[in-house]
Amino acid sequence: MPLSSAPGKIYLFGEHAVVYGELAVPCAIEKRITVSCSESDDNSISIRAPQIGVDNFDIEFSKPSLKSHLSKVEPHLHYILKAIDFSLDFSQTDLNGLELVVESELPLGAGLGSSAAVSVATVDAVSRTCGLTHSLEQIADMAHKVEETVQGRASKADTFCSTMGGSVSIGGGSCDKLPFSNLPLTIGYDGGFGSTKELVSLVKHNKETYPFVGSIIHSIGDISTLGIAALEAQDLFSIGKLMNINHGLLSSLGVSSHSLDEMVWAAREAGALGAKLTGAGGAGCIVALDPDKSITTHLLSTNSCTSAFSVDVSKQGLIRK
Ligand code: MEV
Repeated sequence: MPLSSAPGKIYLFGEHAVVYGELAVPCAIEKRITVSCSESDDNSISIRAPQIGVDNFDIEFSKPSLKSHLSKVEPHLHYILKAIDFSLDFSQTDLNGLELVVESELPLGAGLGSSAAVSVATVDAVSRTCGLTHSLEQIADMAHKVEETVQGRASKADTFCSTMGGSVSIGGGSCDKLPFSNLPLTIGYDGGFGSTKELVSLVKHNKETYPFVGSIIHSIGDISTLGIAALEAQDLFSIGKLMNINHGLLSSLGVSSHSLDEMVWAAREAGALGAKLTGAGGAGCIVALDPDKSITTHLLSTNSCTSAFSVDVSKQGLIRK
């Protein structure tokens, strides 16, 4: 039975700006979503994904039935169903049914790349159940199309990073792996959920309403360029400073919140070299550069933070078993 696991990610620099072609640097983390898939003979698609709120989802195994459910289900099931639909379209094989079990270590919609990880792992597990082992580039591409369909607008950043692992640079039409380096990352989570679709639309609206927003977005791209140089030099102080400036610019785009700001300040006051929101924003997670691994208690003492943990950069992206 194919088992595919894909990591979540944080953004060191560049979320939102990457949607407009600017450079961004996401980084895979050792928290994963794992999908196991097998062929069944009962003419149904059955999905069990308890950690993402799907106890038992069963539909008839037919194209019309799958397509008719696509837009009616909650977001994470939507990614899974679209990934199944897309992989089946691609493979053109005759199956009688599918059984999927999804296990997640990632909070949903919290900026840690759960939608990319579930799309990558589902596309890979279903394709291999159909007898097709795609290249990593193909999987990243297919998972990106899943995200784009569900969200309306999506960069290639999250799905490329989840497929390839490590830190990657995305922008100006190219996606590249950066040399691997682990970073001392600590995550703070406010227990909330941000809709990527709505937050990407908010930035688009602000950009169309206020022409100067274009230069804020461009400046975030400049931060990523300097950030890549700092990463290559392993200059943690510069990486931290650039993360702080990046957070300020994301706030000015309207995608931060009181709870994210409170956690960012708590992390900095407790000695983090830098801290920023990660992902779409609105609510969810911040990421801090925390070489002394000393900020979790301080984060947890704020009203906003519901959990805090250190996490390693994941060298591996998609893992197949
Ligand atoms: C969401 O994790 C990252 C955004 O930049 C959207 C995207 O890149 O598609 C906000």
